Amino acid sequence: MEQIVMPNNQEKSRDIPKRDNVFRMFDRIAKRYDLLNRLLSFRQDVKWRKKLTQLLPNKENLSVLDLATGTGDILLSIADARNNFAEGVGLDMSGEMLKFAVSKTDTAKLSDKIRYIRSDAAYLPIEGNSFDAVTISFGIRNVVDVPQSLLEMYRVLSENGKVLILEFSLPKNRLVRVGYLFYFRYILPFIGGIISGDSYAYSYLNKTVETFPYGEQFCKIMEQAGFSDVQEHRLTFGIATIYEATILTK
Ligand SMILES: C[S@@+](CC[C@H](N)C(=O)[O-])C[C@H]1O[C@@H](n2cnc3c(N)ncnc32)[C@H](O)[C@@H]1O
Repeated sequence: MEQIVMPNNQEKSRDIPKRDNVFRMFDRIAKRYDLLNRLLSFRQDVKWRKKLTQLLPNKENLSVLDLATGTGDILLSIADARNNFAEGVGLDMSGEMLKFAVSKTDTAKLSDKIRYIRSDAAYLPIEGNSFDAVTISFGIRNVVDVPQSLLEMYRVLSENGKVLILEFSLPKNRLVRVGYLFYFRYILPFIGGIISGDSYAYSYLNKTVETFPYGEQFCKIMEQAGFSDVQEHRLTFGIATIYEATILTK
């Protein structure tokens, strides 16, 4: 397989934060993470996760691996929305985020269906061909090794398996983009900093979003990892995108 090339805009800005040990930052903000997600996205995050659940395969006894699972919202939304959901595994590097995921899963009485693993998305402690779907929401931008994580997603998916990647992107419309960037660069880090007590985390957010490949550029990266026929679903003026691909044969 050809080598996966990340575009240069990863290196364009001197400002790009390092992803090494970024999970420690999530350990620090875990307590306020859900609240800030709802508040800063005006609850759009709930809508986006719901849209992702609708794109999952219809197959019976659906098994899902959710990478960079954080506080578990994707798996909990899937359990809520999909009758065919049978088993979920959530994986994350942040022990503190996982504590909230476990507690929310217990409260929802879903511990028999959903379990969590602390691990790196680039090195999955999971056998090949074992899941019907792999999801990752607002996580791919945070992992240290994007190409290796995509290759791992491909490896653990079974034939006819589907990958769904939800990530921030930038609006195409110039006017919307200007307004959005103002909010994203100045208002969001300010509010996020006050409520979480960690202003770095929310300036990290806008810096990573503005420098991470999206749209066609990201589809190409997925194709280099082996996924074919990658489709993008742009959400809310394009401020988030779901990338979808199915593995037909392996
Ligand atoms: C923005 S949060 C997304 C959480 C959740 N998926 C959601 O939609 O709310 C990013 C998550 O990625 C995790 N993370 C960062 N680097 C990682 C890595 N290399 N492997 C696994 N998880 C990682 C962080 O600990 C954090 O929980």
